[in-house]
Amino acid sequence: MKRERIAVAYSGGLDTSVIAKWLQETHNAEVITVTGNLGQKKELTGVKAKAVKSGAKKVYIQDLQKEFVTDYLWPVLKAGALYEHTYPMATAIGRPLLAKALVDVARKEKCTAVAHGCTGKGNDQVRFEVSIAALAPDLKVYAPLREWEFKSREEEIAYCEKHGIPVAATKKNPYSIDENIWGTAIECGVLEDPMAEPPTDAYQHTVSPEDAPDKPTYVNIDFAQGIPVALNGKKMDGVSLIHALNEIGGANGIGRLDLIENRLVGIKSREVYEAPGATILLFAHRELERLTLDKETMHYKAKMANDYANLIYNGLWFTPLREAIDAFVNVTQQTVNGHVRVKLYKGNVEIAGRKSPNSLYDTKLATYTEEDSFDHKSSIGFIKIYGLPVKTFAEVNRKRR
Ligand code: ARG
Repeated sequence: MKRERIAVAYSGGLDTSVIAKWLQETHNAEVITVTGNLGQKKELTGVKAKAVKSGAKKVYIQDLQKEFVTDYLWPVLKAGALYEHTYPMATAIGRPLLAKALVDVARKEKCTAVAHGCTGKGNDQVRFEVSIAALAPDLKVYAPLREWEFKSREEEIAYCEKHGIPVAATKKNPYSIDENIWGTAIECGVLEDPMAEPPTDAYQHTVSPEDAPDKPTYVNIDFAQGIPVALNGKKMDGVSLIHALNEIGGANGIGRLDLIENRLVGIKSREVYEAPGATILLFAHRELERLTLDKETMHYKAKMANDYANLIYNGLWFTPLREAIDAFVNVTQQTVNGHVRVKLYKGNVEIAGRKSPNSLYDTKLATYTEEDSFDHKSSIGFIKIYGLPVKTFAEVNRKRR
């Protein structure tokens, strides 16, 4: 019988190393590993050797950063999407692209199945599998963590040792960490107690506000149609720009979040995040929109942003609704051009200045000086008609006070 070929989403960590071997052992499968670089700081150099030691027939390591920024992160930024008004969704927005990369390799290598290393109680299993269903409904999906026999890390380590798979001999990290260029998610260990303040070692890429410089750092960002194109006057591609902002923001203690969030599978979970670059960009972008979007569009867009965040968080990236919201957002972004100056200081991002060729701010209308061009008298008629329904209701229904 022909052996089944399975493309495995492979991070190089303990779980996915065990998966690669386990699928060969229990399913007599040929395994091809797929690793995506989404800008995580973790070394990808040892990954190939490790995948080979786990018995991979072929190893794919792909730099997906540019595609990630252009096709996934810029839409998130332009929409201003934050899950539950807080989480910039680094993990959530990374999954559809990893699923796409996995499917692409599966097709190329004529695999009939794919596998991922998500647990049975998280959001990521849903994001992976719904994305795969959208892109390749015929592919079978294995999620070994939901069904295999191992009950602990120790058992998985023993399995690796038995099969000659190198286990990183680093000191035991109590946290489960997922990271990419848009941010880092940290959970487990002491963080499972919502009352416990995150210990300093939980944070990976930011200093605490107390340890941040005593002087503010100013950052200048230029936007063209909602997309950042220059940092401190220097034109930059998106990948470099976000990496640079992660550095500057991290050094100023920007973008730390501690959140109780509602998972798709019904659980409330406590997650700690770091997203310095995302926090600065989402802030600066919103400030520019305050200047350049008309009131109705701005208010309507905020509602869409919430729906868009829910859709991404809940694994519905590859859907017509997502494309339709993108189309709406893109229309709004045509006038989101200009310059924003922000001040970073001990964990805070503040607006320091903004200007735009599309600015709707009219000094002559806003001013209280003699330059004022606003027609005060026309407010009389405006208020009369605007307040008419209120007045009518009161006359009919309210007792005299
Ligand atoms: N709760 C976040 C999400 O669902 C992040 C999960 C990331 N996983 C982790 N090992 N920290 O998007």
